[in-house]
Amino acid sequence: MALPLYDFIYFIMFIFKTVKDIAAYLDAQRAQGKIIAFVPTMGALHKGHLSLLKAAQQVPALTVCSIFVNPTQFNNAADLEKYPRTTEQDIALLTEAACDVLFLPDVAEVYPDGRDIQEPYDLGYLESVLEGAYRPGHFQGVAQVVERLLRIVKPHKLYLGQKDFQQVAVLRRLIDIRHLDVTLESVPTTREPDGLAMSSRNRRLTETQRSLAGLIYQCLVSIQSKKGMQSFSVVQKECRELLIHKGFRPDYIELADAATLELLPDYDPSRKMVALIAAYIGEIRLIDNLVL
Ligand code: PAF
Repeated sequence: MALPLYDFIYFIMFIFKTVKDIAAYLDAQRAQGKIIAFVPTMGALHKGHLSLLKAAQQVPALTVCSIFVNPTQFNNAADLEKYPRTTEQDIALLTEAACDVLFLPDVAEVYPDGRDIQEPYDLGYLESVLEGAYRPGHFQGVAQVVERLLRIVKPHKLYLGQKDFQQVAVLRRLIDIRHLDVTLESVPTTREPDGLAMSSRNRRLTETQRSLAGLIYQCLVSIQSKKGMQSFSVVQKECRELLIHKGFRPDYIELADAATLELLPDYDPSRKMVALIAAYIGEIRLIDNLVL
């Protein structure tokens, strides 16, 4: 009986924990002409992260993921402490998904001179609206860690999820103001069958909370479908009432210009728009958005 050529296929992923080691390895790869595609994460990986990796693998490129729960972007100590950490599982998922390199630094490696931001980033309007308004300092921390990671990995391409719509806008601005030589690719949101956007935080939902969480997406779809038929303020009120009735505590339900995130009082057919929602269910804060 002829034996199959391969019984199974297995992948090797290099794991680096220090800046010195990953920088040396990637410098050598770059010198050989490899394109480097980078997916920064905070771990607790799910299909959404894997879709970023898959997008990066289309290039084709040497794919680099990082797992680093960045303390400087949490404006709530309990949220940082409770952030899910599933490193063993994450390593298995990334290996199976054929990621080439994982950067797994500790806090001292990323912030050898302390975590203070020497000179705040000028993030402009983005820092005063939506997530910027509800999570003061959050985007400073995101910009700080992503700039550090980009200076370590020096990728040609950076992959981010569209679920964090405002984060993508902030990081475009970071690339611009810091003149970073990287192309940002924003990848569509991966959703559960009931529409819930995949997120590491979903693991913390109780069964009851999870059964309700798809409502946020249903509200976004309703905002989308009523475009040109109703005024936004009416739809916004309906969504707020529905969410509150089901036990959510909405921070915001807004309509914005998709390019600038300028808040819009009503639908404006001359612009590309995005609807954005942030709401607590129990102590878990969920965010989502839909481009109209
Ligand atoms: O989106 C995230 O997981 C984080 O904000 C990021 C971009 C990895 C920075 O810590």
